Amino acid sequence: MSTQRTAVVTGATSEKGIGRATAERYAEDGWAVVILDLDGETSAKVAAEIGGTYNVPAFGHAIDVSDEASVLAAHAATRAEIDSGALPPVGALANIAGITSPVPFLETTLELWNKVFAVNATGTYLVTKAFLPDMIAEGWGRIVTMSSVSAQRGGGVFGKVPYSSAKAAVLGFTKALARELEDTGVTINAVTPGAVDTNIRVGSTDDQEKAIAQGIPLGRTATTREIASVITFLSSEDAAYLTGTTIDINGGSHMH
Ligand SMILES: NC(=O)c1ccc[n+]([C@@H]2O[C@H](COP(=O)([O-])OP(=O)(O)OC[C@H]3O[C@@H](n4cnc5c(N)ncnc54)[C@H](O)[C@@H]3O)[C@@H](O)[C@H]2O)c1
Repeated sequence: MSTQRTAVVTGATSEKGIGRATAERYAEDGWAVVILDLDGETSAKVAAEIGGTYNVPAFGHAIDVSDEASVLAAHAATRAEIDSGALPPVGALANIAGITSPVPFLETTLELWNKVFAVNATGTYLVTKAFLPDMIAEGWGRIVTMSSVSAQRGGGVFGKVPYSSAKAAVLGFTKALARELEDTGVTINAVTPGAVDTNIRVGSTDDQEKAIAQGIPLGRTATTREIASVITFLSSEDAAYLTGTTIDINGGSHMH
């Protein structure tokens, strides 16, 4: 299915990450893809691999989602590719870039708190604000934000206070912006994955990972593709009646 649209994915170069799996899933569905991550060369390399594998236009640029100038530069680079005809218009934005804070509350610092908010919450704000006007101009768009089960119940190795708080901010952002976008043709929805087997979890021990899996009703962590598939569904025509929604992808771990 070719959509003749571009999907922009932040945080999409991590080898085993959700962002990369999401970019691949978009490409599999025929979307052109823009990969935005901290390292520009790696972003371009991953884009070339995905573009080659799925035979879709794909470009990659550097972005630090927490830095407004960097976000605007990445948007301008993407815009130039669209204006030159190398890419179709932006139809979807998946805000996947994120960092954790596996630090107990009293050991946190204001610096850590600010950093975690800057990437997870402010990053979502800045990137969405940069790309939204393009989607409004097209009269069609799908924005997906990345929250976490941590926003709903905290706890665990990664669900510490700064991370859970920043991911909860993403949920408020998503609901409030959905209300403002009512008549634009642009939807915005959040996903709240439980534990997913990616590099973000490198700080945890085998015993901790085993305990996490045992605590999940389906008895295992999610694959990145299982998260990516929900994100690409939320980006499809079929998801037109979903906005301001949160989709839990947690193997049955509903505790809120
Ligand atoms: N893995 C899990 O269990 C899990 C669960 C729920 C939510 N999440 C969320 O999913 C998202 C992806 O996580 P992942 O598990 O794939 O982690 P990951 O560490 O593999 O990938 C994170 C990506 O974000 C990029 N990134 C980090 N800071 C950035 C910045 N300032 N600007 C641009 N890019 C930046 C990294 O380079 C990396 O490619 C994150 O937002 C994370 O909080 C993960």
